Amino acid sequence: MDQYRVYGNPIKQSRSPFIHQRFAEQTNQQLNYQSELVALDKFVDTVQAFAESGGKGANVTAPFKEQAMALCDQLSERAQLAGSVNTLSFVKGKILGDTTDGDGLVNDLIANNVKLAQQNVLLLGAGGAAKGVVPSLLEQDPKQLVIANRTLANAQTIVAQYPDKPLSACSFEQLSDAKFDVIINATSAGLNGKSLAIPEQLLDKHVSCYDMSYGPSLTPFLQLAHDRQVKKAIDGLGMLVGQAAVSFEIWRQVKPQPEQVLCQLRKEMQ
Ligand code: ATR
Repeated sequence: MDQYRVYGNPIKQSRSPFIHQRFAEQTNQQLNYQSELVALDKFVDTVQAFAESGGKGANVTAPFKEQAMALCDQLSERAQLAGSVNTLSFVKGKILGDTTDGDGLVNDLIANNVKLAQQNVLLLGAGGAAKGVVPSLLEQDPKQLVIANRTLANAQTIVAQYPDKPLSACSFEQLSDAKFDVIINATSAGLNGKSLAIPEQLLDKHVSCYDMSYGPSLTPFLQLAHDRQVKKAIDGLGMLVGQAAVSFEIWRQVKPQPEQVLCQLRKEMQ
């Protein structure tokens, strides 16, 4: 049976084995997908040994996404721009790298009827998670994409990669009289229990808010969005399933249906 893995540290929390097994059932694919905890200094050895043993592919999660990129013989254009890889394919002795986070996000926004084309889009954060989704967001042809970050220089570094795109950088303070149609939180503020110091007037009833993180209860960003009665407030669970669906299609050349799996996951979390 074809073998797949997801590598991370920690990895116990990973929902990827559950998601990929459901996709395999849906599409009648015979495969085995398991999570594996990898010691921080053993990532390269582990992936190479798995590929040599006949493994077909692997997902990569924190903290190995940059290391995964360095390991690849060939990278997709979006992985190069994103500076990270979450999907490895082992083909004819070569390691191919791609990133599916951005398409997972965009597909989930589309599934939630959030329009990006010709819209004013704000991306909060300029770490690995934000950088990873910029190529896919730009492909949707927004009117403008603004990256706002606590440390302005980090947002400016991403913007400098895309000289001909409607992309700009600013600090949170500079957002005080701005207006957006869509706001996406890609900071890790919620994960470390901190709130985001963004001007609250950004969150009005016309704006759709998306948090790339998720949890059993509302993230601080989505709590604020709810309190401000925004148009839509969506968590990142659909992005998680969406990025898995794109990986699955890369490996198996068949498109799974994320909706059903997302419903199952949501039920489990409640
Ligand atoms: P990830 O891979 O999840 O993106 P990261 O690379 O450490 O993690 O990036 C974390 C992002 O969240 C950064 O944009 C960080 O802002 P800085 O560049 O200023 O560090 C942002 N972030 C983390 N905690 C935050 C907080 N309390 N308020 C605002 N931004 C925060």
